[in-house]
Amino acid sequence: MQRDFSELEQEAKNAIKTAQTPKELEAVLRLYTGKEGKITREIQAIPTLAVSERAEAGSALNTAKIQIAKAYAERQDELKQRAQKESGAEEFLDVTAPGKKIEYGSLHPLTLVQRVCGEIFGSMGFSIAQGPEIETEWYNFDALNIPADHPARDMWDTFWLKSEEAKSQRPKTKNPRFLLRTHTSPVQIRYLETHTPPVRIIAPGRVFRYEATDANHQINFYQLEGLVVDKDISVANFSAIIQEFFKRFFGFPVTVRLRPSYFPFTEPSFEVDMTCVVCKGKGCASCSHSGWLEIMGAGMVHPRVFNATGVDPAKWQGFAFGIGLDRLAMMKYKINDIRLLYEGDLRFLRQF
Ligand code: DAH
Repeated sequence: MQRDFSELEQEAKNAIKTAQTPKELEAVLRLYTGKEGKITREIQAIPTLAVSERAEAGSALNTAKIQIAKAYAERQDELKQRAQKESGAEEFLDVTAPGKKIEYGSLHPLTLVQRVCGEIFGSMGFSIAQGPEIETEWYNFDALNIPADHPARDMWDTFWLKSEEAKSQRPKTKNPRFLLRTHTSPVQIRYLETHTPPVRIIAPGRVFRYEATDANHQINFYQLEGLVVDKDISVANFSAIIQEFFKRFFGFPVTVRLRPSYFPFTEPSFEVDMTCVVCKGKGCASCSHSGWLEIMGAGMVHPRVFNATGVDPAKWQGFAFGIGLDRLAMMKYKINDIRLLYEGDLRFLRQF
């Protein structure tokens, strides 16, 4: 006997269509395809049918089940939409309401300054070099003509590291005594060791000093090292480049002045002053009424530095300089305490 399930299917569909609430709808579904549902029971009864009828009955019941599921899904949508429409008043969208404020992040002043320096020096043909923050005594001191026990080492209060720890991070090194670099000058050595002149680089980076903090001192801060090596390089080239840099960095004409000084890795060495950015040279409290601000150390690369890196000092000459980036940021943005740059205070940082 052929069994017809279309009537049962129709009955289920009608019940589904007339269900008025999600709960009612669930109940109808259960009644037909639930555990004990009418269709389910028919499916369970298939094995009792004559073998010749089983396949057809199975297929018909399956189709019925799929159709019921479809009708169920449709009705569920209808009921959902109806509920939404009914609660519509509460979901009224006020298009005149003020929008939510989007919070923008901003770059740290030191990042900004570093980027601007990179752009200005980049436009003058400099490329950017880098070195590690954990250095060896050789790169930080000896190769820069500051041998052990040289009084000049007192110029840099140093964080020495326990060699075992540092060695595990920097295994292949010339000298086993490790430290946190006290300046970016070791990058000069690293670069000259691996590149042949002519050389025109800047090396911005973090440096460390074992000293007390105050408004002008931090145990870590940022420097920007510069190095130019070529056949005919003089102090005049240095003076012109640095003057152009400051002019572009601060946005007004700047004069620089070189005062004789001492650094072991340069000869002659200078302390560089620039026109005070606050009073533009007239004299004010920031520059102790001199019209000048001390801004960096510089000089002509010492022949011993060339010798330490395998560059022939008879053939090549160059200048080097080291600028304090924190100092630069403080002058540009009129920040009066270096510690503000390291406190992560959002009230301060949001201003940039
Ligand atoms: N390394 C020096 C310091 O930390 C700054 C400096 C002075 C860098 C003279 C130079 C230089 O390259 O020529 O105080």
